[in-house]
Order: sequence, then C-alpha cells, then structure tokens
Amino acid sequence: MAEDPVSFALDIADLFTQRDQEAMLIQFDLWDAEDVRDNADAILETLTSGRMPCYGAWDEAKVGLFRQWVEQGKAD
Ligand code: HEM
Repeated sequence: MAEDPVSFALDIADLFTQRDQEAMLIQFDLWDAEDVRDNADAILETLTSGRMPCYGAWDEAKVGLFRQWVEQGKAD
C-alpha cells in the first residue's frame, strides 16, 4: 500500500522552532504552508548547506524529511 506523501501540517511545520519562525518573518512565515512552498528550493538549499538555522545545522534526518516533502509535491 502506498504511504501518504509527507504533509506540511503533520510532518514539516513542527520542524521549525518559534525562534526560526520569528527570525525569518521578514522574508516568509515558516509556519505557513504557502510561504514555505513558494520558497522551498531556497529553504532546502540553506538547510542542505547548513547555513540555516543560524544557531546549528539540522541533522540529515530532518533535512531528508524536508527534501522528501519537496519531492513528493509539497502537500498540505
Ligand atoms: C531562503 C532561505 C533563508 C534565507 C535566505 C535566510 C536568511 C537569513 C538571514 C539573512 C538572517 C539574518 C542574518 C543571519 O543571522 O545570518 C537569518 C537569520 C536566521 N534564520 Fe534564516 N534564512 C533562510 C531560511 C531559514 C530557515 C529554513 C530557518 C530555520 C530552519 C532559518 C532560521 C534562522 C534563524 C534562527 C536566524 C537567526 C535569528 C536569531 O538570531 O535567532 N532561516 N536568516
């Protein structure tokens, strides 16, 4: 049986802390599916390179989950 695609509300939103969300509001809202969808490629690049979050890179499991969300169609 096929599994459901990675979901923004169920799997992704919680990866972003309140500090992350507040820091980045000047550019986009990391808790808003539409904003993250619109900026997904740039966000993925900063996560992959480890440039964001600024206080410490995500581990591969978290980056991988975000990448999967992008590759599976950025579902709500
Ligand atoms: C397109 C993607 C992004 C761009 C262009 C971007 C850019 C920036 C810039 C210019 C700053 C301020 C200068 C600095 O501290 O380096 C900043 C700060 C920050 N960003 Fe991002 N960012 C992106 C994505 C993210 C993501 C995905 C996260 C979290 C997972 C994040 C979390 C933060 C945090 C925590 C800070 C520091 C604020 C503090 O001092 O607490 N950013 N970002």
